[in-house]
Amino acid sequence: CGIVGVVGKLNATKVLLNGLAKLEYRGYDSAGIFVNDQGHEAVLIKRVGRIKNLQAAVPDTLTGTLGIGHTRWATNGKPTEANAHPHVSNDGRFYLVHNGVLTNAAELKDEYLSDVQFASDTDTEVAVQLVAKFVRDGATTKDALRHVMQLVQGSYAFALADKEDSDTLYVAKNKSPLLVGLGDGFNAVGSDALALLDQTDTFLELHDEELVVLTADGVRVENLAGEVQKRASYKVDVSEGAGELGAYPFYMLKEIDEQPVVLRRLLSNYTDADGQVNMPEELLAAMQQADRLYFVAAGTSYHASLVAAPLFEQLAGVPVTVAFASEFGYHMPLLSKKPLFVFLTQSGETADIRQVLVKVKALGLPSLTITNVPTSTLAREADFALSLHAGPEIAVASTKAYTAQVATCALLAQALGIYLNNDAAKQFDVAHKLTMIATAQQQLVDEKDQIHEFAQKMFKTTRNAFYIGRGSDYYLSLEAALKLKEISYIQAEGFAAGELKHGTIALIEENTPVVAIVSDPVTAAHTRANATEVQARGAAVMRIATESLAQPGDELVVPDTDPLLTPLVTIVPCQLLAYYASLDRGYDVDRPRNLAKSVTVE
Ligand code: G6P
Repeated sequence: CGIVGVVGKLNATKVLLNGLAKLEYRGYDSAGIFVNDQGHEAVLIKRVGRIKNLQAAVPDTLTGTLGIGHTRWATNGKPTEANAHPHVSNDGRFYLVHNGVLTNAAELKDEYLSDVQFASDTDTEVAVQLVAKFVRDGATTKDALRHVMQLVQGSYAFALADKEDSDTLYVAKNKSPLLVGLGDGFNAVGSDALALLDQTDTFLELHDEELVVLTADGVRVENLAGEVQKRASYKVDVSEGAGELGAYPFYMLKEIDEQPVVLRRLLSNYTDADGQVNMPEELLAAMQQADRLYFVAAGTSYHASLVAAPLFEQLAGVPVTVAFASEFGYHMPLLSKKPLFVFLTQSGETADIRQVLVKVKALGLPSLTITNVPTSTLAREADFALSLHAGPEIAVASTKAYTAQVATCALLAQALGIYLNNDAAKQFDVAHKLTMIATAQQQLVDEKDQIHEFAQKMFKTTRNAFYIGRGSDYYLSLEAALKLKEISYIQAEGFAAGELKHGTIALIEENTPVVAIVSDPVTAAHTRANATEVQARGAAVMRIATESLAQPGDELVVPDTDPLLTPLVTIVPCQLLAYYASLDRGYDVDRPRNLAKSVTVE
């Protein structure tokens, strides 16, 4: 979910609708705003579905000096208007938006609110009814909110409005992301900087269990004990704002096309004129100490971590463990003596990763976040941070962030290998290889029509599909299958090619699509044999092979590159296959059902 709030001289309605549109990547099941025009008018509007539904419902004439807004990704309760935020207390006085999950809401309801009629199934409503109760019992609004913070368990970013005080906005944070934006004659809050960049470039970071009181001219940050916290502001580069869609029908296509540019931008940021990689000396020194790297990630970033692992093992000679963040924090394996944690994350906000980082910090162990959002929570809280320089990724299905992650890891692995005086790294001219890959990616994005034809042939009506490969091709297959399933809703699986025959081959029927990736000289013949096996059982096979391994009849041939880096090339046609499969089925490519781009709940 995403939240935004503002108080002061701006037109609150405009700020909220603009901010929510920027936050839509966090969820789009339903959305709502509450605006208060200095007591003249106080209006709550909520709608199910995309922000545009809400925008259509808000009259142009509605202005306000204070407002809060929310775009929802349902966790507790279905995406209905009743469950959409802001939630309002039964006395009609308090309005609350919330990002996070309150795990003891049911207990609090029983203990404090047994006589209250609830309008929704959400944990958030419990919090707002509690605020109203404590105020009725004599507390100030601020103290009531603080009391709620003391009682609730779980995660929250709250923005609270008191209808009787249109000059004051109350916010609180624990585990869920929230930033304060500072303005001249106004102040604001948002789940990320992007939501407020049209208003300000100056921000205040908040820590967990802090409560903030905002007015047009003041921001007061307090801890749970009520002590005022001093905090320096920082500037965010406005050019990080979301690029426009331009002539593109969807952001995903634009972002696929941007990949060669992103790769070149990464090279110019991390290498010097003669192709030497520059990475922060302190980071390399810390990594040198490590006897094992633990990559902890989710979703596409997990798949990028799988590709990154052999790069570090082979170029820097350091063993790597790759783990799902949602598993790792609660079932931590026996750690090596000197571990270093690498959090690969597009958004830098994934809650599953944050809980691992908190545990890692408590153990006093070093950490690195590699992210596309340098101002994000995970970037700020880890010991080291590297930027992916991919520019904002808007489509929910990650594309350019994935390739930027793999490329950044390749650069870092090589730099570390050189730092460790490792021969394999010295012979691996990463800058040259990535330059060639950017050219290869360009060639592939220029071949869209051909790939669209394959998508029509393979995926138009099928219910399921498989991607198979070995080594890096297997890791690529996992990502290719995820791309297809998340936006086309075709049940797709990535498989280690040799494993298919040990069970899953039973699913192959006449015309089941199987995409076989052949880019690794060591296993190419085996993968080809596996493709032939499924073809013999009726599968519609598409072979994607690199030039030097290509054979007559291969459906798509892609330029050669180092086997460690082929996913940077082979992913491009796979992203396009998914894009066209979704497009041809008539789906909203950028906003697939049930998903959010940044998942800030565990
Ligand atoms: C969500 C997104 C995925 C993403 C994953 C991890 O589930 O829908 O596309 O891969 O989170 O996100 P991160 O920002 O940590 O890379």
